[in-house]
Amino acid sequence: MPEIHICEVGPRDGLQNAKHLMPTEAKKAWIRALADAGLREIEVGSFVPPKLIPAMADTCEIVQAAVKIKGLKVVALAPNLKGFQRAIEAGAHKVTFPVSASRAHSLANVRMTPEEMVEEVRKCARHPHPGVAIEGAVSTAFGCTMQGVVPDDDVVRIAAALAEFCDGVALADTVGYANPAQVKRLFGRVKEKIGEKLEGAHFHNTRGLGLANALAAYEEGVRHFDSSMGGLGGCPFAPGASGNVITEDLVFMFEAMGLSTGIDLEHLFAAREILAKGIPEEPIYGHTPLAGLPKGFGAHA
Ligand code: COA
Ligand code: ZN
Repeated sequence: MPEIHICEVGPRDGLQNAKHLMPTEAKKAWIRALADAGLREIEVGSFVPPKLIPAMADTCEIVQAAVKIKGLKVVALAPNLKGFQRAIEAGAHKVTFPVSASRAHSLANVRMTPEEMVEEVRKCARHPHPGVAIEGAVSTAFGCTMQGVVPDDDVVRIAAALAEFCDGVALADTVGYANPAQVKRLFGRVKEKIGEKLEGAHFHNTRGLGLANALAAYEEGVRHFDSSMGGLGGCPFAPGASGNVITEDLVFMFEAMGLSTGIDLEHLFAAREILAKGIPEEPIYGHTPLAGLPKGFGAHA
């Protein structure tokens, strides 16, 4: 068992914010290559109205292809019961719901207040979903480009509400406002309230603090991280949001620290080539793939 669990969110968080569309077959090839590199969990798309996010229109087909990959946990995002039902029908193993702690972002993103969104997720949890895990992701947990400061108390309250009926809860820095001290403080407070239900950390690298925040969360006991290959990503309904923490650099950091991720970096770089071919117009980022691995580097995969 790897010590660190990484969920690749590029096919969802990355492509939803890309200026160009990635063809369905290219998405499938990229997901296969990510799984070949050792990723055991991939958020492959979202079940949202295609009119709203055309890049996610083929999510059903993508989920159906991804569930055929042995050993892969296939995750999809849903914003409501309709999306949840579509995700279950397609065969997703886990569904993530974005519940904004910022009222302004919640209204812009899902047209519901945070309280209404919590109730929507509760409704989904009551809907039969055999074998499908539910994650409540508290988005804009570290600040919001529309509302500004998001009080810790709001995050703790929403996380506690979600923990009543979700299998796991994650904290997300949707717009890249978090800093390591804040990460330690907030993860600490939420952990105190909901214990082991607090699982994931989802950071964006907008101000270059993605890795620093991931390390702070690690030190606070977090072992599940979202990241995006090439640093793609961002929420189209959160002005100023940019890419996630970069998978290649996150894997390098943990492996270099002697912590196993189960991911092979050379194979990860190969998957990056497939991403670049699949959406050639989109700029992709990452330090480790450009610099290469240090001489004598022994990955712990
Ligand atoms: N998938 C597909 N279609 C959906 C849907 C879903 N999950 N949810 C609603 N729809 C359809 C409805 O059937 C309806 O269709 P119609 O016009 O043909 O009757 C239409 O969309 C409007 O439905 P409504 O329930 O009024 O939704 P809304 O317009 O208030 O939008 C959300 C609410 C939650 C569906 C929308 O804001 C959303 O998808 N937000 C997520 C955005 C996102 O992906 N953000 C980035 C990730 S965090
Ligand atoms: Zn995100």
